[in-house]
Amino acid sequence: MSAVGKGAVRGAAVAPQSGEPADGAPVPTHVAIIMDGNGRWAAARGLPRIAGHRAGAQAVRRTIEAAIRHNVGWLTLYAFSSENWRRPLAEVIDLTGLLRHYVRNEVAELHESGVRLRFIGDRARFDPDIQDDLRRAEQKTEGNTRLNLTVALSYGARAEIVAAARLVAEAARAGTLDPAALTEDGFARYLNTDGIPDPDLILRTSGEQRLSNFLLWQSAYAELIFLDVLWPDFGAAQFAEALAEFARRERRFGARPG
Ligand code: IPE
Ligand code: IPE
Ligand code: MG
Repeated sequence: MSAVGKGAVRGAAVAPQSGEPADGAPVPTHVAIIMDGNGRWAAARGLPRIAGHRAGAQAVRRTIEAAIRHNVGWLTLYAFSSENWRRPLAEVIDLTGLLRHYVRNEVAELHESGVRLRFIGDRARFDPDIQDDLRRAEQKTEGNTRLNLTVALSYGARAEIVAAARLVAEAARAGTLDPAALTEDGFARYLNTDGIPDPDLILRTSGEQRLSNFLLWQSAYAELIFLDVLWPDFGAAQFAEALAEFARRERRFGARPG
C-alpha cells in the first residue's frame, strides 16, 4: 500500500478559523465515525428515540459537507451494527424506514456534490427493496471522486473477518490460493473494505469509549478520538476540532519516535 491511509499532508481548502486545523496541517485521508447518542439526545428532550435518529440524519448531512470542505477524501459512517438487530422491533422498523427514506431522497443531491457511495455490511438482511436502492445508489455514483462515502449497515467487524477467512479457506481448498503465500494485504482483499484505505482517524460521539465491533482489522493504527457530544449535536465545529486534534497527534506505526 502507498501513503494512502497515512494522513497525507494537504493544504486546507479554506482559511482556518478558531478550533480548525492550521493551514498545511496533516489532514486524515480517511475519517470513520461511530455515530452514537441519538437515543440519549431524544430522551433528554422527552422525545421518542426515532426523533433522535431523524436529528442524527441531519448531522450526517452536516458531516458530509464538512468532510468535503476539509478535503477529506474518504468518510465512513457506522449507521447500523449487526448487533443493532437485537433492538426492539419497533426501533428496527423505524431505523430501516429512515434508511429507506434517506437512500431514496438524498442520493440525487449526493451525486450532484460528487459523492461516491458504498455500503458495507450484511445487506442481505434488509428488505429486497432497500437492497435494490443500495445497489442503485452505488451504481449511480460510482464515477464520482470528490468524497468516497461508505456507510456501514448491518455491519460487524468479526462477522466480516470470519466471512473473509471462509473465502480464504475455500480458495485454498479449491487450489487457487497457497496458504503459505497469504499476506496481510492479501487477506484484506477479502474484507468488505477492499479498495478502501484504512481509517486514519476513528471518531466516536456520545462519550462511550469503545469500538462496538467497528472496523477491527482496519483500525490497527487509527487515531481514536472520543467526543462527549451526542451525535445529533455533531456538526462542522466538532469535525474541525477533531481534525485539529488529529493534526496534533504523533503517528509512529511502531517505528522509533522521530
Ligand atoms: C446511535 O444512537 C444510532 C444507532 C446505533 C442506530 P443510539 O440509538 O445508539 O443512541 P444511544 O446510544 O441509545 O443514546
Ligand atoms: C454502535 O453504537 C453502533 C452504531 C453507532 C451504529 P451502539 O449504541 O449500538 O453501541 P453500544 O451498544 O453502546 O456498544
Ligand atoms: Mg448507542
